[in-house]
Amino acid sequence: MKKQTPIIEIKGLFKSFGKDKDVLRGVNINVNKGENLVVLGKSGSGKSITIKCLVRLVEADKGEIKVFGTELTNLAEDELNQVRLRIGFLFQNGALYDSMSVRENLAFPLQRHRPEFTDTQINIAIEETLESVGLIEAIDKMPSELSGGMRKRVGLARTLILKPEILLYDEPTTGLDTITSREISELIISIQMKFKTTSIIITHDMACAKFTSNRIVILRDGVVYTEGTYQDLEQSEDQWVRSFFI
Ligand SMILES: Nc1ncnc2c1ncn2[C@@H]1O[C@H](COP(=O)(O)OP(=O)(O)O)[C@@H](O)[C@H]1O
Ligand SMILES: [Mg+2]
Repeated sequence: MKKQTPIIEIKGLFKSFGKDKDVLRGVNINVNKGENLVVLGKSGSGKSITIKCLVRLVEADKGEIKVFGTELTNLAEDELNQVRLRIGFLFQNGALYDSMSVRENLAFPLQRHRPEFTDTQINIAIEETLESVGLIEAIDKMPSELSGGMRKRVGLARTLILKPEILLYDEPTTGLDTITSREISELIISIQMKFKTTSIIITHDMACAKFTSNRIVILRDGVVYTEGTYQDLEQSEDQWVRSFFI
C-alpha cells in the first residue's frame, strides 16, 4: 500500500516558558489527510501549546512544522496568513460576539476574509453552514438565547464558513452535559465526512475520544509518550496509559 504523505508534520517541537518550564521537549506528530487525531494528556501537559505552535500563535523554540507540505517556521506573516486561512481553530473558550446575532457572527469572518463576496453569497454561505451544524432555526437569535451546545455549534459554524481543510478542536465538549457532548462528537464526525477535513482534537472526554478518533497520541513529559487506536491504547500493557481509559 502506498504510504500517505501527512498533511501535518510536527517534528522535534520544543517550547519552554522560562528556564524551569520545559513544556514541549521534542514533540513529533503526523496527521494524515482526512484523519481525526485525538491528543490526550494530563492538564498542563502542553496539548494547547502544541496546536498553538502549529499555527504559530505561539512561537516554538525549535522544531519543524510542515502543513500542506509547506514549512511554516520561517514563513513571512502574509504567507503564513494564507496558510492559516485553510486552518480552522476552535479555541477552548471560543466565545461568540454577544452583541451580534448568529447571522452577524457568521458574516463577520466572511466580510473580513472574503471581501469579494456579495451580500447574497454571504447569506447563502451562512444558511448552508448553519444547515450543516443543524442550527438553521437559530439564524436570527442572539447568543444569549442559545444553550451551551448551540453556542458551540455556532462557534464551529463560524470556523467552517471559511471552508478550512484542517480543523483544530481544543476541548470541544468541555462544560457540556453528556448528551450535548455526544451531539458535538457526532457533529465532528459528520464534518469529517461531509467536508473531508483533517482534524486534531484535544480532549479529556474519553467518550469523545472514542467516538471521534481514528488515532490517539498521549503527551507526557513534553513528548508523545505513546500512540495508537482507542482500542490499542485501552488494552495497553502500560498501566499509566490504561489509566486514561478507566
Ligand atoms: N504564556 C505562557 N506563559 C507561561 N507558561 C505558559 C504559557 N502558556 C502555557 N503555559 C504553561 O505551559 C503548560 C502547558 O500548557 P497547555 O498547553 O495550555 O496545557 P494543556 O495540556 O492543559 O492544554 C502549562 O503548565 C502552562 O501553565
Ligand atoms: Mg489546554
